Amino acid sequence: MKKFLVTGALGQIGSELTMELRGRYGNENVVASGIHKRDSVVVESGPFEIVDITNYNQVSEVVKKYDIDWIVNLAAILSAVGEEKPSLAWQVNMNGLFNVLEVARENGCGVFTPSSIAAFGPNTPRDNTPQDTIQRPNTMYGVTKVSGELLCDYYYEKFGVDTRGVRFPGLISYETLPGGGTTDYAVHIYYDALQKGKFTCPLDKDTYMDMMYMPDAINAIIDLIEADGSKLKHRNAFNVTSMSFNPERIYNEIRKHIPEFTMDYDVNPNLQKIANSWPNSLDDSAAKEEWDWTPKYNLEEMTKDMLKKLKEKLNDK
Ligand code: NAD
Ligand code: SER
Repeated sequence: MKKFLVTGALGQIGSELTMELRGRYGNENVVASGIHKRDSVVVESGPFEIVDITNYNQVSEVVKKYDIDWIVNLAAILSAVGEEKPSLAWQVNMNGLFNVLEVARENGCGVFTPSSIAAFGPNTPRDNTPQDTIQRPNTMYGVTKVSGELLCDYYYEKFGVDTRGVRFPGLISYETLPGGGTTDYAVHIYYDALQKGKFTCPLDKDTYMDMMYMPDAINAIIDLIEADGSKLKHRNAFNVTSMSFNPERIYNEIRKHIPEFTMDYDVNPNLQKIANSWPNSLDDSAAKEEWDWTPKYNLEEMTKDMLKKLKEKLNDK
């Protein structure tokens, strides 16, 4: 049975991925880690360690202690926070990734690291953005994501480390709030629809971006880790997507369930600038061809499920 270390395991993706991995591979085989410990099912249901990925020794000690096969490196600083704190974003997203790759090289581990739609930039073709195209991002987060893709490719080519990754779009989920990205509005809108009946959108109504519901994102990570490596040509940078919408479209979808829900706009120029530099929609045919990527949720199905699960969660509090 594979043994996993998940870094950034208390974040938006890690909190759900850890539980899914534990369900599939066994609780003891999935070591969750984070920079802080807090009360959570992730901490209580299996091994948990404090690991700051900018600290090489902490990563190395935990990998050796548990005889880890795969590091799923989710520790990162996301786009909006990254523009506020570019030096921290470089420190975590690049120096931290370097430590993870070095430890993987020394201990024979595979490494999964997500890239992002942020790895593209303002002069990338915006519609049906190809798998292989111009990547000149103008955010620190984007710079670290495209550099991370290249660094992971390098570790595969040079040292044979089994590195894999996808370019995730904005992820929508109800378990854990997002950690400071540009696509976060697409999560907050569901909370506000249920809790306040109104939402103030920080992005302009015409802003299209790719999005995905968390169950599809979790499957993407596990399916790619389990894929036959000999068939992977784009190991660290697969475009993946499930849907593309603008604020008006998600608003109208939620209104089908909550007709009295209202939305107005108060555009945040910093977020808008970041969003304007990202694609409207991605071409994910390489992921479909090379490892059979098949998302299950579109906007309609996601909205139905998200409102149901979020309502249950909020009522339980
Ligand atoms: P998140 O912000 O929710 O979680 C990141 C976690 O990393 C947090 O728990 C944070 O405490 C932790 N962290 C920060 N610095 C650390 C350090 N030095 N050492 C260890 N942990 C540290 O992020 P997420 O949404 O779960 O994203 C995980 C990965 O997926 C990131 O690489 C991100 O770029 C990528 N991604 C996410 C999305 C999305 O919409 N959520 C989209 C595209 C790509
Ligand atoms: N959701 C992420 C962000 O907005 C995309 O990488 O930062």
